Amino acid sequence: MKRIGLLTSGGDCQALNAAMRGVVKSLSVSGEDVEIYGFLNGYKGLIYANFRMLTGADFSGILTKGGTILGSSRTPFKTIREPDENGLDKVEAMKHNYHKLRLDCLVILGGNGTHKTANLLREEGLNIVTLPKTIDNDLWGTDMTFGFQSAVDIATQAIDCIHTTAASHGRVFIVEVMGHKVGYLTLNAGMAGGADIILIPEIPYDINKVVLAINERHRRGSLFTILAVAEGAISKEDAALSKKELKEKMKSYPYPSVSYEIAEQITQKTGQDVWVTVPGHTQRGGSPCPYDRVFASRLGSEAGRLILDGEYGFMVGYKNREVVKVPLEDVAGKLKSVSPDASIVKEAKMLGICFGD
Ligand code: F6P
Repeated sequence: MKRIGLLTSGGDCQALNAAMRGVVKSLSVSGEDVEIYGFLNGYKGLIYANFRMLTGADFSGILTKGGTILGSSRTPFKTIREPDENGLDKVEAMKHNYHKLRLDCLVILGGNGTHKTANLLREEGLNIVTLPKTIDNDLWGTDMTFGFQSAVDIATQAIDCIHTTAASHGRVFIVEVMGHKVGYLTLNAGMAGGADIILIPEIPYDINKVVLAINERHRRGSLFTILAVAEGAISKEDAALSKKELKEKMKSYPYPSVSYEIAEQITQKTGQDVWVTVPGHTQRGGSPCPYDRVFASRLGSEAGRLILDGEYGFMVGYKNREVVKVPLEDVAGKLKSVSPDASIVKEAKMLGICFGD
């Protein structure tokens, strides 16, 4: 008999349910007797012992379902050691509930912040297996995270739709793609949607270079321009500021997001109106794409194997087209980001895409 806790933490994404289904199916197909404790709304469920007993039936029919059947929330790692408003020690509470329920292990699905807490729980002696979810694909130790390909599809569709109207009207459009720190999603959706300019956090932009690219297109007879801009795109000037200076500057930042600032600057410098479209959380929503369904199922199945073999303390990841186990201590606290020297960036530049650098 295995007693397994399951939780999904952080921003949701597509294929969380597919991954959990993969874990539970692989365990039940093995014939192992399992009890599943589904903690609700992320780590909060574990802290406050808010859980539901789940059976195989709960995981039936959820392969294609978006969101997470367990609910999710963000529990910031930086305050995890601080007592809650009632003085409760959150880490001790999680350990207490784990031991009280006599769990054999916890399966935790999450992104960067989630992995820091998962590793902390491992250090505190709990048996942990994690699965890498995020539309940002910014988890260290895995070439791919589930949710990413589905989000690329959605952001690409947004750019495709903007493309036709931009071309009809000869307009400049910015599509703002999710990703505060990392630009994989913007880069991939931008390339897939044929964006002319792609601005990502890892490659600070010079607005004059952006304007030059728009003017050059105009000169060659292309009256419209599509910019794919990451939420976290940053100008060269801002990138040169210290963290403290930037924080200070952002206190009186007058724009809803960076895209609106870029739009205003382009208008000032070219005289052209610029339209901004923000697909926002649609990028995290809806049914997972077929790639993510397969991918998350594979990772879930491997998590099931690790549990059956009693191998704990790992994230199930994907390296060089193989499903692998990566020690949690190697993953926690590291960010995977787009290298400005990556071949995909070079190839995009060869296609004439401007990165504003
Ligand atoms: O981490 C995934 C992500 O969707 C990022 O791309 C985005 O910047 C952020 O979450 C948005 O967070 P929230 O849903 O809390 O606004």
